Amino acid sequence: MSIHSAQKRISIPGLRHMKGVAKIVMLTAYTKPMAQLIDEHCDVLLVGDSLAMVVYGMDSTLGVSLDTMIAHTQAVMRGSKHSCVLLDMPFGSYQESKEQAYRNCARALAESGAQGLKLEGGAELVETVEYLVARGIPIMPHIGLMPQRVHEMGGFKAQGREEDAATKWIGIAKNFEAAGAFGILIEGTVEPVARAVTEAIKIPTIGIGASPACDGQVLVTEDILGLFPDFTPKFAKRFTDVGLAVSDAAAAYAKEVRTNEFPRPEHCFGVRK
Ligand code: KIV
Repeated sequence: MSIHSAQKRISIPGLRHMKGVAKIVMLTAYTKPMAQLIDEHCDVLLVGDSLAMVVYGMDSTLGVSLDTMIAHTQAVMRGSKHSCVLLDMPFGSYQESKEQAYRNCARALAESGAQGLKLEGGAELVETVEYLVARGIPIMPHIGLMPQRVHEMGGFKAQGREEDAATKWIGIAKNFEAAGAFGILIEGTVEPVARAVTEAIKIPTIGIGASPACDGQVLVTEDILGLFPDFTPKFAKRFTDVGLAVSDAAAAYAKEVRTNEFPRPEHCFGVRK
């Protein structure tokens, strides 16, 4: 059976098998309409905690709650039928202990319908990943630039510039692999380090501001659409400018309302022809 069966969602094992076979296409989705529009073109839809900034206008991803992440993931599940859907566990929901992580991750998986979860972290997270995977929770660790650590990093800064970075991150990635992670997301990391990590492990890597050598790529959908006017990161390519189309449409609507051109009889009920 093909990995891309028309009727069934791509599964977690299906994603693992894509390494070396086909590039994994991942985009973020936060709402049902967006999921409906992009689902057929993707392998994975990530309900990223970036929605804190993109949808709710927060300064960082730190303020979003697990309830909010679950509600948006439920919406994305309703709007998709093909892609594997992953939920991003929010700051503070898994770092305290592996038991806390299990409680919140089990709830997230059960209530949202997502197939897997993404957790930011390095060496300190390996034991938690092993604990969760052993209890049936598929996990994709997120390494490199970790937006939940924006204050510790002093901003959203590319990682992996230290001399021993490749050795360090290969070691951590191998430990995640041994712990049962089904893939690793690498964000904002210098290219040779992201490439070396990808080549060193048998599970797929998904890059964002990382390397073309990664087994897949992810971007924030609003960035590729030009729908997040506040900031476009260096690594995000704008494939179209929906933002401009939205602004033009609002201007045209405003003009027609003010000049009584809209609504017309065909937009009204009970008007004789
Ligand atoms: O929250 C998010 O959207 C992410 C991606 C940027 C990878 O973690």
